[in-house]
Amino acid sequence: MSVIEMNRPRVQNSASTSSRAKAQAAAKASAKLKKKPAAKSARKTAKKAWRTAATSDHHELYELSVQTPKEEVEFIDKVFKSITNRLPATFREDFCGTHILSSAWVIRRATNHAYGVDLDPSVLAWGAARRKQQLSPGAHKRLHTVQGNVLSHKGDLVDVVAAFNFSYYIFKKRAELLRYFKFARTRLKKDGVFFLDCYGGYESFSEQNEERNLDGFTYIWDTAKYNPISGEVLNHIHFKFPDGTQIRKAFTYDWRLWTIAELQELLDDAGFKRSTVYWEGTDHATGGGNGIFRKATQGEACAGWIAYIAAEK
Ligand SMILES: C[S@@+](CC[C@H](N)C(=O)[O-])C[C@H]1O[C@@H](n2cnc3c(N)ncnc32)[C@H](O)[C@@H]1O
Repeated sequence: MSVIEMNRPRVQNSASTSSRAKAQAAAKASAKLKKKPAAKSARKTAKKAWRTAATSDHHELYELSVQTPKEEVEFIDKVFKSITNRLPATFREDFCGTHILSSAWVIRRATNHAYGVDLDPSVLAWGAARRKQQLSPGAHKRLHTVQGNVLSHKGDLVDVVAAFNFSYYIFKKRAELLRYFKFARTRLKKDGVFFLDCYGGYESFSEQNEERNLDGFTYIWDTAKYNPISGEVLNHIHFKFPDGTQIRKAFTYDWRLWTIAELQELLDDAGFKRSTVYWEGTDHATGGGNGIFRKATQGEACAGWIAYIAAEK
């Protein structure tokens, strides 16, 4: 199977600031314009209920802005099955943050277990409170998190390790990223698969802001600094609200913007048998991404893109 379908608005990388993201945002905006204007009293109530910087929680805004956990879990399932001819059950989410992906994993099947690993106790605690509210007691029991380092926390061997939202870009040197890839490989069962996402495109090298209007707030991906010599990139996420208030630098990422070619070479060096890139197709009506990720060896030199890599142990 080579076609994987999902609909992701997408992330920080929505940095994918891209023409695709822009086109999607424009399409959404025009769809909104066609709606009947709300009655005056309804507008007043809506305005009162609008988010402001003071009433907002940055983790919640982040999840609403950049995450599509259900679609990503479905994608992982399909790719894993296409490679191994079986469904995965155990999932390790490295850099899990609020562990929304792990949460979607345990919801998907009653036999699924997820293990989230993150260094930051505060984000784990926020996620734990949220997941407890959202999950059934049975699913909640199958979701495990640990405060630990993805470079050293062992845990159980799993079918799938995922490092999403480009978190591994934190490793800026080849040797550091190689060490991480090698360690991730050791955490997989014999036929396990390591999933990564990545982003790029010529706009990701430009120091600029990209805005996306969401429900009651605006998400801003700010490429504050890019160093073409080291490949280092400094990104911030800001949020803006209808009353003019803002949360500036809600999140900051000091990363290296790795290319897919570098990543695949490093995955090879780390001992993975094979790595496959899944590239998003184009929606010809909007010029944006169509949410369908296919196996590819040739991409397009577009303004912004997001891709997935599946690396087989
Ligand atoms: C960009 S956030 C991603 C969160 C989540 N994966 C997502 O998709 O939204 C990066 C997370 O990685 C964590 N982190 C950074 N270095 C780490 C390390 N060496 N081991 C474990 N977690 C780490 C941070 O605490 C942060 O929560």
